[in-house]
Amino acid sequence: MDFNELESSEGLRFAWNAWPSSRIEAARMVIPFGIMCTPLMPLADVPLLPYDPVRCKGCRAVLNPYSGVDYQAKIWICPFCHQRNYFPANYAEISDSNLPAELFSTYSTVEYVLPQPFPISSNASGSFSSRAASYPPQAAGGYSSGVNPNVNYSGSYSPRSGYGQGNVSVGGIPYPGDAGSSSNAPGFLFVVDTCVDSEDLLALKNVLTQLLGLMPDNARVGLISFGTMVHVHELGYLECSKSIVFPGDRELSIQRVQELLGIHAQQPRQVVSQSATRQGGLGRFLLPVSECEFSLTTALEELQPNSFIVESGHRPRRATGAALAVAVGLMEGSLSNVGSRIMLFVSGPATIGPGMIVETDLGKSIRTHQDLMNESATYYKKACKFYSQLAQHLVSNAHALDIFACSLDQVGTAEAKSAVESSGGLMVLAETFDSEIFKKSLQKLFSRDEEGHLKMCFNATLEVITTKEMKISGAIGPCSSLKKKSALVSESEVGIGGTSAWKLCTLNNKTCLALFFEIVNQHSKSITPGVAFFIQFITQYQHGSGQVRLRVTTTARRWADGGQTQDIAAGFDQEAAAAVVARLAVHKTENEEIFDIIRWLDRNLIRVASKFGDYAKEDPDSFRLSSNFSLYPQFMFHLRRSQFLQVFNNTPDETAYFRLMLNREGVVGSLVMIQPTLFSYSFEGPPTPVLLDVSSIAADRILLFDSYFYVVVHYGSTIAQWRKLGYHNDPSYENFKKLLEAPVADAEALIVDRVPVPKFIECDQHGSQARFLLAKLNPSVTHNSNPYGNSEVIFTDDVNLQVFLEHLQRLAVQS
Ligand SMILES: *[C@@H]1O[C@H](CO)[C@@H](O)[C@H](O)[C@H]1NC(C)=O
Ligand SMILES: *[C@@H]1O[C@H](CO)[C@@H](O)[C@H](O)[C@H]1NC(C)=O
Ligand SMILES: *[C@@H]1O[C@H](CO)[C@@H](O)[C@H](O)[C@H]1NC(C)=O
Ligand SMILES: *[C@@H]1O[C@H](CO)[C@@H](O)[C@H](O)[C@H]1NC(C)=O
Ligand SMILES: [Zn+2]
Repeated sequence: MDFNELESSEGLRFAWNAWPSSRIEAARMVIPFGIMCTPLMPLADVPLLPYDPVRCKGCRAVLNPYSGVDYQAKIWICPFCHQRNYFPANYAEISDSNLPAELFSTYSTVEYVLPQPFPISSNASGSFSSRAASYPPQAAGGYSSGVNPNVNYSGSYSPRSGYGQGNVSVGGIPYPGDAGSSSNAPGFLFVVDTCVDSEDLLALKNVLTQLLGLMPDNARVGLISFGTMVHVHELGYLECSKSIVFPGDRELSIQRVQELLGIHAQQPRQVVSQSATRQGGLGRFLLPVSECEFSLTTALEELQPNSFIVESGHRPRRATGAALAVAVGLMEGSLSNVGSRIMLFVSGPATIGPGMIVETDLGKSIRTHQDLMNESATYYKKACKFYSQLAQHLVSNAHALDIFACSLDQVGTAEAKSAVESSGGLMVLAETFDSEIFKKSLQKLFSRDEEGHLKMCFNATLEVITTKEMKISGAIGPCSSLKKKSALVSESEVGIGGTSAWKLCTLNNKTCLALFFEIVNQHSKSITPGVAFFIQFITQYQHGSGQVRLRVTTTARRWADGGQTQDIAAGFDQEAAAAVVARLAVHKTENEEIFDIIRWLDRNLIRVASKFGDYAKEDPDSFRLSSNFSLYPQFMFHLRRSQFLQVFNNTPDETAYFRLMLNREGVVGSLVMIQPTLFSYSFEGPPTPVLLDVSSIAADRILLFDSYFYVVVHYGSTIAQWRKLGYHNDPSYENFKKLLEAPVADAEALIVDRVPVPKFIECDQHGSQARFLLAKLNPSVTHNSNPYGNSEVIFTDDVNLQVFLEHLQRLAVQS
């Protein structure tokens, strides 16, 4: 079984690929039945179907290859609830030689393009054509009677019929007005901090002006600026610049904000005309890019650094929280349920009003982890509460909050994390608005696919359907609960539980959720080992083209006899398991002490080792782990020491950022975060992976280190010296030049795909920047074991990997 291969055909990684068939046996497996699910992972071959899905009338599961079909009676049997369903009339031609795509065994994933007539125009490629496909599907070009599924089947869909080209309006009438007012075009509201020096503000203005050029023409944009006061810019008012001003030091309810903006939707219907009710702030504060580029550019140009005088010994009065409350109110009153982003650009701590994290007095320092632990962070809880209230508004309107924190100080992302995470927003930490990390990350966020559509998707829901032997415990990731209760939902919650459906306000093709399941089948109701079970993942989302799509993945795995450890072990995916456990550990940090979480990890690791290891009782030397488990202890070792659980050296803002990022990454990215990769480049041959250990540092080596957040090229002392002397510029040292270039080129390739962009560091052995590398290396040689040695030494009292594994063996073999 190749788990990577399976992932690239389904977008799923199971920690366990064979599940014990009873509740009692399941409880003994230690590691949870988690699945890392990347709902929109690019898969090799996903047919785009231009018609509505057929759903089971019992459990609402979508027709899929695991359904039983009676061609004679035109009936299909749901593999989840065993309900018999009649095919709809337009499937009358169905036979075993004429199958619709969703019944093909090779299509475990299909995508339906749902009828909706309002595409988002894109200014990079032409706009949509009105060549509407007809419904039912027989006539849609894809599924016509007589098509032999074995003969060039997929060719009968795209590109001939145009699906997959992103330029077809499906099943509906073309939008009657100008493309500029398409009803599902996303909104982007800039919320700009002006308590910043003029140089940095200028950099930000330039970045935002350029960003307008990257947006679809009909995306609605708006501008709020804030310092001590909050200004909502009226971009639709063309005579002169005009804004509505709010005080920054008061907490206003969302409803009050809407009243003050004159966009309150709750007014009596008969007084306000239909269109006015619907419009909210559209046309005044939020306009299509194509209509307001001039007024928005002007408003940005006119932004000045906050004019309120900052007393000496004080921080600027920065009303971040009030600005966000106004932003949320404006968006809720204008683009409710239209997938959108509120993008905060902030350059320092919130110091007044709701969400403040510190007073202006510089004598008072910004909270540290120490303060949080001993509960002496005065404003923390109140600010967290404020943001979790905003979060509820955000998710119920399908609006994401992004924070671009460009500051040397903390800004309060620790407090705002819940709002960013539950809405699926992005967090970027950089030092200035002029930094590459900030500028490139923002640019990448707005990158386009080959057809010119934004790669960001909006307004998604993920629904999970299972068979009755299991229940759904919850999800951990950038999502929120849709509170969909059913018989499939477990009482015992893991992460965001109590539901079988979640909302993702925004997502892209990498966004990954960890989903948790509980096996509830009673021991007495035995299931024959080898029998398959099924899980269906149904993701509805708004594609970058404006199309509403429904991706359906139906997956099958096998039940095993929990007593047969080998059968279960054969299906263990240690990488997926480490990613699932890491999410769970990070989730626990919200309510539990780090010390307890580490103990929980250790205890579980020992239980895994003693259950799945091979050993003679009480004989540590006899201990062996099969190859399927062999890396798992190492992953746990690095997870324990990672910045996700250890907080010294990091601010609460940084910790919040790291945890948020882990919580959305897929298996491969998560593992790089937990256990960074290290490659050695030398004259001795091609680059080779080396141990993540101080002993890998050598004078004549270049190391390429990747911890996801940092990519470091580290020059051994000899190489560093030659580089300083400029040998690579001498044509007779061509080889040296090539040796220097290789790791840098490889580093660039690693960085290309990541948002936010990692920090790239080039450093020399013994240089101060080398700390980014040293902090992550296994301390095999410490000041304890080698007090006078001259090899590279890490000053730590942590145990090293070797000692850790020895402990593990000793404990695992105890009865
Ligand atoms: C997925 O997203 C990445 C990063 O935005 C992009 O490079 C890639 O082309 C995308 N793949 C597809 C199939 O959209
Ligand atoms: C967003 O999703 C919700 C729930 O699926 C749906 O009711 C709403 O119409 C969607 N919004 C748009 C603009 O499509
Ligand atoms: C909490 O920790 C901070 C920072 O170390 C310290 O200044 C403060 O006195 C501590 N407060 C309590 C109540 O222990
Ligand atoms: C480990 O996994 C492979 C599949 O990757 C399986 O074939 C093998 O039997 C497993 N080994 C053990 C000892 O469980
Ligand atoms: Zn069903």
